[in-house]
Amino acid sequence: MCGIVGFTGKRQALPILLKGLERLEYRGYDSAGVAVCDGKTTRISKNAGRVYVLKYKTESENLVGTCGIGHTRWATHGKATEENAHPHTSEDLAVVAVHNGIIENYARLKTMLVEKGYAFYSQTDTEVAVKWLDYCLKQEGEPLQALSRFMEQVEGSYALAVLFKEYEGEIYAIRKDSPLLVGVANGESFLASDAPAIAEYTGDLYYMENKEIAQITAGEARFYDERAQEIKKVAVRAKTSGEETEKGAFAHFTLKEIFEQPKAVERTINALLKDGFIDFSAAGISEKMLKERGQVWIVACGSAYHAGLVLQYFFESVAKIPTRVELASEFRYRNPLLGKDALVVAISQSGETADTLFAVREAKRAGAETLAIVNVYGSSIAREAKYTLYTQAGTEVAVATTKAYSTQLVAGYLLGVELARGRGGLDERAYRAWIEEIVALPAKLSQTLEIRGEAEQAAKRIAKQPNVFFIGRGVDYATAMEGSLKLKEISYIHAEAYAAGELKHGAISLIETGTPVVCVVDSMFEKTVSNLAEVKARGAFTIAVAGEGKNVEGAEVTLSVPNSRLFASVAVVPLQFLGYYCGVERGEDVDKPRNLAKSVTVE
Ligand code: AGP
Repeated sequence: MCGIVGFTGKRQALPILLKGLERLEYRGYDSAGVAVCDGKTTRISKNAGRVYVLKYKTESENLVGTCGIGHTRWATHGKATEENAHPHTSEDLAVVAVHNGIIENYARLKTMLVEKGYAFYSQTDTEVAVKWLDYCLKQEGEPLQALSRFMEQVEGSYALAVLFKEYEGEIYAIRKDSPLLVGVANGESFLASDAPAIAEYTGDLYYMENKEIAQITAGEARFYDERAQEIKKVAVRAKTSGEETEKGAFAHFTLKEIFEQPKAVERTINALLKDGFIDFSAAGISEKMLKERGQVWIVACGSAYHAGLVLQYFFESVAKIPTRVELASEFRYRNPLLGKDALVVAISQSGETADTLFAVREAKRAGAETLAIVNVYGSSIAREAKYTLYTQAGTEVAVATTKAYSTQLVAGYLLGVELARGRGGLDERAYRAWIEEIVALPAKLSQTLEIRGEAEQAAKRIAKQPNVFFIGRGVDYATAMEGSLKLKEISYIHAEAYAAGELKHGAISLIETGTPVVCVVDSMFEKTVSNLAEVKARGAFTIAVAGEGKNVEGAEVTLSVPNSRLFASVAVVPLQFLGYYCGVERGEDVDKPRNLAKSVTVE
């Protein structure tokens, strides 16, 4: 996904745009650019690479003006080059725009535009969109009707912020399946892809709905439907503040957010408990609805998918409800055989992941109840699912998720306990025992953070290895998958997760002297220890993650964590540290790994 920011007001736009882009850079960082209008002239500056390059570049450029838009890109069409960077423009700068999303019929539109005499300088779908909007403007004569016509004819997803030459001081915006929100305060107006970029300026935000048009002037925002009929929108209090997007004393956001986990988990638990009992009333979830569920499908991507795998074990063991976990990108195309009593649980930190969003739509089409576990307030998945349980991780800036993952687990545990209670499978004593186990997690996570030094030392011993294996049985296998992803996405070391009992059916041939094998060993302890012995016998360098006091025969390094019936929540922390410190050891950009973005809002 990409980051969009806009400002029109009394102050110079450039500093506000650049600061907003820095706060959005985790959404994508292949290239960056701004357009600033001084009332007569719109000046553009853009470059391949990061926002700090743009910041340096614009110091020597005369981008003065109190109205502007900015963009930080995660490339979809065309390489991360200057000509492909946003903003994109029509020939005479009649239309200047930045875009987040994918224009799916851009090829057809481009062909029609070429026939109309338009020429192109980039490989992007965005340039096609801008020139199609230019064509619509020439047909309609004014922005609102032009945007309305644009939305009739353009297919795909878009958040578009636009400057029209003849309408200086105004920013127009439209969105479909990519988020945009507007803030107004003290005679100034702001536009952003999500709240951290502008929350410090305005506490009240207007979350744009699909196919709405915003007309933003200094200190005022007016909204229209897709037929350009004016509508009234209600502002919502921002659920974030800008300072969350500062590193503080930490070297990286990734490390900061690993350390924020106890507090994030505690906030999430407290938001869903009332007087010691689970309370989903704020989400409108009734005991009746849960009682009527006969099956659960969890849909998610990446780490959220791994959280789903952990919760599958929990739901089936505690709530005794058949639970399937599907990659969202697969679920939506497999014609899932959803029963009428199905509950589809969509897990997503950003709430904007396209694959998961479309999976929710597929579930709704099939008539299932949909429940989102989401971290970003007002995000698309939260708005489209019937029910939403918000995690309280706060803004997660590092691309590799840590604190949000941990909060997804606890929100899921609470859902599982409530499902069990609704289905009559949990007596009062068992209910209270689970609540106590969950409530004990923040303190156990704080204690687990003390493993940092040992994990760093272990990372130094594997950071130069080309391949690492993660193994575990039962729910530990799900945790091993998350550990494997953390290592891959942060340090670029190839890693694979295997069910500990499965390794001997082939992949064990890859074990050589010194090959690191990280073993999460809690469930089926003895059997897993045996599997560890199998790889050690073939020369593996073995690292175990185990409950304190447990002796893991054959482990060269044991990273001990507090014991818990929710072992996945404590076992993941040393794996997060491993991934982080391997990335640091290898000198990688751990907060913004190559090729990645914080949320993938395209298919
Ligand atoms: C996790 O570290 C990754 N950044 C990625 O796998 C992420 O979990 C996945 O893209 C899903 O994102 P979401 O939770 O925002 O939907």
